[in-house]
Amino acid sequence: MSGARRTRAPFGRRRAIVAEARDLGAYRLVTALDTGGPQDPRPGQFYMLAAAERWGAGEGERPYLPRALSFARARRSGEGVLLDFLLEVVGPGTERLAQLAPGEGLWLTGPLGVGFDCEPSGTPLLVGGGIGAAPILALQDELGEAIAALLGFRSAAHAEAASLFAEAEVCTEDGSAGRRALVTELVRERLDRDGDRTVYACGPPAMLEAVRALCAERDVRAQLALEAGMACGYGACFGCVVPARSGYVRLCVDGPVLDASELTDAGVPEAGR
Ligand SMILES: Cc1cc2nc3c(=O)[nH]c(=O)nc-3n(C[C@H](O)[C@H](O)[C@H](O)COP(=O)(O)OP(=O)(O)OC[C@H]3O[C@@H](n4cnc5c(N)ncnc54)[C@H](O)[C@@H]3O)c2cc1C
Ligand code: FES
Repeated sequence: MSGARRTRAPFGRRRAIVAEARDLGAYRLVTALDTGGPQDPRPGQFYMLAAAERWGAGEGERPYLPRALSFARARRSGEGVLLDFLLEVVGPGTERLAQLAPGEGLWLTGPLGVGFDCEPSGTPLLVGGGIGAAPILALQDELGEAIAALLGFRSAAHAEAASLFAEAEVCTEDGSAGRRALVTELVRERLDRDGDRTVYACGPPAMLEAVRALCAERDVRAQLALEAGMACGYGACFGCVVPARSGYVRLCVDGPVLDASELTDAGVPEAGR
């Protein structure tokens, strides 16, 4: 697997400062100023994050390890880069990160992993499911605002994340915002109309597998951003392995973005949201 799409993180963690934090419907948007790392993270890359205070040593000592988050947007600012993280609270780590307030410290390691290959063959088709919209936003920023994203959410509260996008077609499972549909239905319609595409997707395992299968049937190239529980984020613990055609791969260094042709099934349990 190629390291060409990788921007390498400096060794060790560094302290960023939270610049802004606000609710965005069901999610939380946290912006941090990183003055010590690369200013050109690639869409699909991620950071390992831990709050500088009140992290671990609480009840049951959780959270202890840092948590992996894709950056949703990166903007140069003075000596550093402002990184947006879109958060869904699912446990103690994301809960603490969602409590961060402006001025607080945030330990960062990153950018890590291999991001999306931003040289598509054919027209790019961007697809995000739920919190998987985060790296798709960074990709839209990179590829150009005119490239619409297809975004699927559970409800209108989650669909508020679509307001960050320049162009998006939204659907929800309950019909409370946009069309009542699964985002894979929108993908199928687009590919039936025009199959000369590269599909870029991030979302829950079932969505990723449906996208992989739709693309495989039509011989359409696809790049899928998967997730797995990550303890280290840089290849040392083997906690993030997923099965690929070539054998097990470590998602943190070989991914998180994998070419769909490398997978027989993208529905890896716990690999996606
Ligand atoms: C490369 C990458 C990018 C990510 N980007 C984002 C992002 O932009 N925004 C965001 O909100 N979250 C993102 N995640 C998921 C995030 O890392 C987890 O939600 C977080 O680690 C959960 O920690 P916790 O302490 O809150 O919950 P925990 O108590 O650790 O977990 C709560 C529940 O979520 C499940 N879970 C935990 N981690 C993962 C995971 N990585 N994949 C699938 N299921 C998991 C657990 O099995 C458990 O059921 C990303 C994960 C990876 C690997
Ligand atoms: S998270 Fe440790 S090897 Fe991938």
